[in-house]
Amino acid sequence: MPTPTPASLAWFRAARFGLFVHFGLYSLAARHEWVRSREAMSQEAYDRYLEHFDPDLFDARKLARAAREAGMRYAVLTAKHHDGFCLFDSSLTDYTSARATGRDLVAEFADAMRAEGLRVGLYYSLLDWHHPDFPVDRHHPLRGTPAEQEPRDLAEYRRYLHDQVSELLTGYGQIDLLFFDFSYPGMGPAEWGAEELLSTVRELQPGIVVNDRLGIPGDYVTPEQYQPDEPLERDGVPVMWEACHTLNGSWGYDRDNHDYKDPGLLVRMLVQSVACGGNMLLNVGPTGRGALDPRARETLRQLGEWSGAHARSVHGAGPSAYQPPSQGLYTQAGNRLYLHLPTWPLKHVHLPGLAGRVRYAQFLHDGSEVRFSRLDGAQHEHNNLAPPGRSGDTLTLTVPIARPDVLLPVIELALDGEG
Ligand code: GLC
Repeated sequence: MPTPTPASLAWFRAARFGLFVHFGLYSLAARHEWVRSREAMSQEAYDRYLEHFDPDLFDARKLARAAREAGMRYAVLTAKHHDGFCLFDSSLTDYTSARATGRDLVAEFADAMRAEGLRVGLYYSLLDWHHPDFPVDRHHPLRGTPAEQEPRDLAEYRRYLHDQVSELLTGYGQIDLLFFDFSYPGMGPAEWGAEELLSTVRELQPGIVVNDRLGIPGDYVTPEQYQPDEPLERDGVPVMWEACHTLNGSWGYDRDNHDYKDPGLLVRMLVQSVACGGNMLLNVGPTGRGALDPRARETLRQLGEWSGAHARSVHGAGPSAYQPPSQGLYTQAGNRLYLHLPTWPLKHVHLPGLAGRVRYAQFLHDGSEVRFSRLDGAQHEHNNLAPPGRSGDTLTLTVPIARPDVLLPVIELALDGEG
């Protein structure tokens, strides 16, 4: 099994926050990226989106700027989703944005991300409901139709898959990350030729970071739409991970779905990822014309406002060995310990194990000093009422009554005598 060089994972680990972009023909249907399968649509019916595909508002530079300003350090675009439609100029099929509109959106995306200093990632669907040799299985839109009986040559599809991945990894400069999607019973490593494919990937782009959805271990694991609250392990060994999340439960643009996560929740999810040694990949689904809808734009803007002041509690930071207080989360970068406070305490925060270890404390949003006492928390309360176990090594911070007006308040603690 090829193991990643630590250097190739280093940028990924430090980056912590990325943008996922789901865009394709399904964006025109505007009712989830699985629309063709969910509605068991024939290819002919689905072709109406191809006919009307006009991404005139897809502006990769705008997208890159929005991502950078939101505090993201990498971005991942759906080069091909399950419907098989390619956002790049593939020589192996006509089913591409290049044929439809003359535009290679992967090229535009890669150039724009690099220009903003973001790492470039591509998503590639292992499923392909357009390819004549992809099996008509239970996810396929043609399930239950005579197409199930047609002969399909999986080896042909496998060749197409390998060759398309090679196109993506040779035609677009340095690709930093590849997100394969996905394996399921019946379609897994053997069907994809996963081992061979992964070694080709590493040969073509030696520094690349690859996910785990080929069904064999990659460089990181991909919890989807749930939030791990502790470090993750594979076979008892800690493993790098990235939680991918939607804004409203759908990856592709979903016009009538208003089940949005609020920006405060998203920041907490990001910080919880970092506190548990992982990354967060946050998705946007541009509209049928390729633009971010106002809600997505506003969410990114608010995340950016928070990130602007709090970036160092996230980027380059990771889990801490210190035990956070019950109402807080810790991240740590060298001798800086970051206390994130999702619920606002009354006047005092008690930090076990930190008495005598903190040189200075300040809010990150405004650099204002937070005063503390090395005397334990029992001192300001009636001694008899002090919770048991709050011992002399507890440090007590004094915070204002009014919660700072930021999505998630953070106190930076400068630790004594740590690297
Ligand atoms: C799932 C879905 C897919 C989405 C992906 C993102 O595998 O099938 O539509 O692109 O998750 O991680």
